[in-house]
Amino acid sequence: MARAPAKINLFLHVGDKRADGFHALQSLVAFTETGDELQFAAGEGVSLAIDGPFGAGLSAGADNLIVKAARALGSERGARVTLTKNLPVASGIGGGSADCATTLRGLNSLWGLGRDVAALQKIGASLGSDVPVCITCRPQWMEGRGEILTELPPLPELPIVLVNPGVGVPTGKVFAALTTLRGVGLPLPPKFSGAADLIAYLKDTSNDLEAPARIIAPVIGEVLDFIAGEGALLARMSGSGATCFGLFANADTAARAAAAIRAAHSSWWAMVSRLLSASGTICK
Ligand code: C5P
Repeated sequence: MARAPAKINLFLHVGDKRADGFHALQSLVAFTETGDELQFAAGEGVSLAIDGPFGAGLSAGADNLIVKAARALGSERGARVTLTKNLPVASGIGGGSADCATTLRGLNSLWGLGRDVAALQKIGASLGSDVPVCITCRPQWMEGRGEILTELPPLPELPIVLVNPGVGVPTGKVFAALTTLRGVGLPLPPKFSGAADLIAYLKDTSNDLEAPARIIAPVIGEVLDFIAGEGALLARMSGSGATCFGLFANADTAARAAAAIRAAHSSWWAMVSRLLSASGTICK
């Protein structure tokens, strides 16, 4: 079984719109320990079966990023891919991108293609802005539209709670509603000595997409207030939303927060996990 963890934008600053219509970004990206799960087996042609709590209604056809990833590897070989969809779709945590990246890694290995990380990232960039960063699942400094990546020293392995209120916010609409941009002028972050250090750094940053997303879907504000009220060290939205996260000092407070969220809002999704450090990567 190969894991496709959730991608978390610990911060996300937006710069000017580029000639290609996309905004330049700067983001500190990290991954959770848990997420979607994929299995790869030899087979005739490329087939995809989908199960899991968020699998219903997902297309398993040629438009699925997993099938696109298989084709983009340019091999004649076949595979049976199974996806267990545990993460909400189109929700700012890169589920589809992580599935795509995990397929590039998994089939590269199953088919013995011998492509290195840089080659897989290059193929990934043609499939989606967030795919390259998901190839290694290590903490990275992300720039450009997502294709300029710098590996970072390990981050503290903090407990994290992800919360999604079940509303969709289209990425294009969020970018179109941007008002305040922090720009892309930050230098590479320092090495963090511990949780307090990381949190202090993050508090000086923001997710520039949070304000426009909150206007489009005000429930995002409710989610953030709830997470903060449960004692999170930091509560923030990831990507273009609507999934938000809270970083917690220890696993017990994180678990209690998730339980309180589920009890108060049965229609919200909450997942407790851990931020992965560089050395603990599960994406091999
Ligand atoms: O990456 P994705 O195709 O989901 O983006 C949807 C839309 O969001 C783009 O067409 C663009 O209008 C906007 N966007 C942007 N800058 C980015 C990413 C997305 O302006 N870096």
